[in-house]
Amino acid sequence: MFSSKIIGMGSFLPPKKLTNHDLEKMVETNSDWIVERTGIYSRSIAEDGQGTSDLALVAAEEAIKNSGIEKSDIELLIFATVTPDYLMPSSACYLQAKLGLGNIMAFDLAAACSGFVYSLSIADQFIKTGHYKNVLIIGAEILHHKVNYDDRGTCILFGDGAGAAVVTRAEDGEESKVLSTHNHADGSLADLLYVPSGGAVIPFTQETLDSGEIFVSMKGREIFKHAVRTMSQACQEALDANNLKKEDIDWVIPHQANARIIEAVAKHFDLSMDKMIVDIENMGNVSAATIPVALNNGLKSGKIKKGDLVLMTAFGAGLTSGSALVRL
Ligand code: UT7
Repeated sequence: MFSSKIIGMGSFLPPKKLTNHDLEKMVETNSDWIVERTGIYSRSIAEDGQGTSDLALVAAEEAIKNSGIEKSDIELLIFATVTPDYLMPSSACYLQAKLGLGNIMAFDLAAACSGFVYSLSIADQFIKTGHYKNVLIIGAEILHHKVNYDDRGTCILFGDGAGAAVVTRAEDGEESKVLSTHNHADGSLADLLYVPSGGAVIPFTQETLDSGEIFVSMKGREIFKHAVRTMSQACQEALDANNLKKEDIDWVIPHQANARIIEAVAKHFDLSMDKMIVDIENMGNVSAATIPVALNNGLKSGKIKKGDLVLMTAFGAGLTSGSALVRL
């Protein structure tokens, strides 16, 4: 069995911003409330006509450049998203063509906000078995089309963006590696966070457009509790599997859904906030993209360094959850 490691990161947040003050003009809310309850000041919004694969393209080009490998070396593309360019075919296929990767295997992965850790887990398995050596993984979303800007409980949270990572086979004895991944789902709670219309059960009609069922429906308070519980459990599971203590971890990168959720995970897990990466202020909740964007920003700022032990933990619609423990 081989091991895998992350060798290049990239990210892209569209420059157009939707600020709390913009939202004050759209729904009954106020910036102080949003900041106090979520930690968010602004979110990125893609241009009209831009696809999720367009955002992913920028992130992927940066990740490939940072990895030092050639595009022709990439053998698998996994694209985590719940907001694909089209319902069919996958955004992975569009991105594969835009990047010029050749006829490699490419598919979308729908695990909502846990999409990046799910993708890393799958990349790790393909590399461990020796099937592939270099895998490109993406977490990217354009959520603003899925948000009802009359619903103040959701529209304040979500934004658009993309993150990417090149994962490759680690050499024998190398410190840098993916130490473990664990993923879970609890489909019995799926209706707490979903988009009712547009799929096979309730197809898109004029009625579902008028009723707002084409947008994200979320029971925020309940989701909050499950997010804290599952991300804390995921952190513990990663430590137990590796016989490590909390003190061994350099950084926890949780899914960036709400700064208060991150604080609650730190409290639940009894970890100092100094070890938690919070990068939500001007990103908002970009689902599958938040963890790779936060990791890339941390690396670029010098806060996170090569050799650090990083614990990623995610939670999302599904309800999915998981962790990835990585020595960078
Ligand atoms: O990626 C994973 C998916 N999403 C999440 O993880 C989100 C999880 N949930 C949350 O982040 C929070 O539940 C929210 C930010 C969505 C809401 O915060 P909260 O502290 O749970 O607020 P709440 O729903 O308990 O509402 C408290 C009050 C209510 O008023 P009353 O009933 O106390 O009079 C709401 O109507 O705040 C009101 N409220 C607002 N007020 C101003 C709800 N949204 C807003 C708003 N502006 N945008």
